[in-house]
Amino acid sequence: MARSIILDCDPGHDDALALLLALASPEEIELLAVTTVAGNAPLARTSENARKLLTLAGRLDVPVYAGCARPILVEPAHAQAVHGETGLDGAELPPPRVPLADGHAVQAIVRAVMERPPGTVSLCAVGPLTNLALAVLLEPAIVPRLAEIVVMGGAIGLGNVTPAAEFNFWADPHAAAVVMGCGAPITLVPLELTHKVRLTPARLAALRALGTPLARVLADLLTFYDGRYRARGDQDGAALHDPCAVAWLVRPELFTGRRARVAIVTEPGLCRGRSVVDLRPPAPEDANALVLTEVDTEGFFALLLARLARL
Ligand code: RIB
Ligand code: CA
Repeated sequence: MARSIILDCDPGHDDALALLLALASPEEIELLAVTTVAGNAPLARTSENARKLLTLAGRLDVPVYAGCARPILVEPAHAQAVHGETGLDGAELPPPRVPLADGHAVQAIVRAVMERPPGTVSLCAVGPLTNLALAVLLEPAIVPRLAEIVVMGGAIGLGNVTPAAEFNFWADPHAAAVVMGCGAPITLVPLELTHKVRLTPARLAALRALGTPLARVLADLLTFYDGRYRARGDQDGAALHDPCAVAWLVRPELFTGRRARVAIVTEPGLCRGRSVVDLRPPAPEDANALVLTEVDTEGFFALLLARLARL
């Protein structure tokens, strides 16, 4: 039985992989909508990129709702040093053939959850959590109705945008605090997990060898993304953060994790956006997340390639 999900994202090269994996997995995922948020690039860019990717995949049936153009309180900040000026540099994508859907992403999330039976809708968030936080504040009744919230974000140890914080949580720490504290079932996909999923030359070659027009475009995009990682001194190759969150929904058996209490630092300064992940045993009664810590990396890439070959 496919799970109904909304993918909240800030495309973003790895967001693109998350979206395409969701589209290519109809047995496990019914993609109700894509909601976009400012993050890797400004909202206009991330929204256009989502529409272009759906056009590339021939999925004009999936609505894209634009969400929040800025974080709740902190100043907007983007990651164009990693993802380029457009947020998705590295290849020419087709012009979007669908307009943005009417209405704000936050209202679309609330509507989708409230209109469907309790426990049938999951949210998969792979950008800053502004949209999800506002949805929870606008309509708290969505929280007990959600099947799950899967969040790519946070770090148990070192961050990536600062030594203390991962980008999605740093970009909107107040939103991260609201979502992590909302009480819904949460599966957290932190950097310690996603840094085990790296783009190597062999994996990039295997993607390009799929030989489809989409695979060629995707390989060009990921070549750019990988180049930015390596140019910044990370010779392990680009980390494929966001598709790990979707892969959890498709093949949870590829992952293991532990329940933990996760708290977010919202104060300004060195620790802004830090996720304090208490993994000390035993798991506390008030654990608010399943924190994924291990992944079958080869199994992940086998799944990703097999599914992308379908598009
Ligand atoms: O820190 C990694 C996260 O920040 C990923 O979601 C990436 O797309 C960026 O949004
Ligand atoms: Ca992202």
